[in-house]
Amino acid sequence: MAEYCVTGGTGFIAAYLVKSLLEKGCFVRTTVRDPGDAEKVGFLMELAGAKERLKIMKADLTEDGSFDEAIQGVIGVFHTASPVLATLIDPCIKGTLNVLRSCSKASSVKRVVLTSSCSSIRYRFDVQKQQITSLDESHWSDPEYCKRYNVLFYAYAKTVAEKEAWRVAKETGMDLVVVNPSFVVGPLLAPHPTSTLLLILAIVKGQV
Ligand SMILES: NC(=O)c1ccc[n+]([C@@H]2O[C@H](COP(=O)([O-])OP(=O)(O)OC[C@H]3O[C@@H](n4cnc5c(N)ncnc54)[C@H](OP(=O)(O)O)[C@@H]3O)[C@@H](O)[C@H]2O)c1
Repeated sequence: MAEYCVTGGTGFIAAYLVKSLLEKGCFVRTTVRDPGDAEKVGFLMELAGAKERLKIMKADLTEDGSFDEAIQGVIGVFHTASPVLATLIDPCIKGTLNVLRSCSKASSVKRVVLTSSCSSIRYRFDVQKQQITSLDESHWSDPEYCKRYNVLFYAYAKTVAEKEAWRVAKETGMDLVVVNPSFVVGPLLAPHPTSTLLLILAIVKGQV
């Protein structure tokens, strides 16, 4: 059975990917920053099939080559790991490049799926001025627009990271698929909410 790598296994979307792949009978490697943190990663080993087919491996977006071992030998990579706080720009952009470089080094990898965001599409001056209403894959958020409104650091980082990912994919002939979710909500698999959900909660509570 095929083996896949899911980056950032403690994350909200990643945990569902790991669960779903295990349910299909696949072998799964997932990366976390601290595999020794039982409180944070323990729930992953409780998923059905995890004890037989899940490996939890250490990798950090900010360390070059950190994902090589987790990616070497797998046929598909789901790259979901991403910070969401104000310090995210470098880890998001360089981290995406870091993961894609590991993918291009691994001849086993047939397809890479990157979770970008609708934030990389919709922040544009022409949308704000209502000159454009319908957006598709030809539209990109404008980094200058994101920089003008300081709260859009996340959109800036996701836009630049996705553009870089497409550049690398073109240069290396990689089969890249990008998904651009808006708000992903639902029951948590992890015991505690992770960064994206904390951000959404803060919006609901009117704190940001
Ligand atoms: N959830 C949404 O509504 C939504 C909407 C649009 C796009 N997205 C995108 O979808 C992806 C997954 O989102 P999510 O909500 O599932 O994420 P999440 O729950 O916030 O989890 C993010 C994961 O990234 C990991 N991470 C953070 N910094 C890292 C670093 N320096 N090195 C390695 N790992 C790091 C965290 O791992 P640790 O355990 O080590 O902290 C965590 O597992 C992200 O790329 C996000 O931008 C999400």
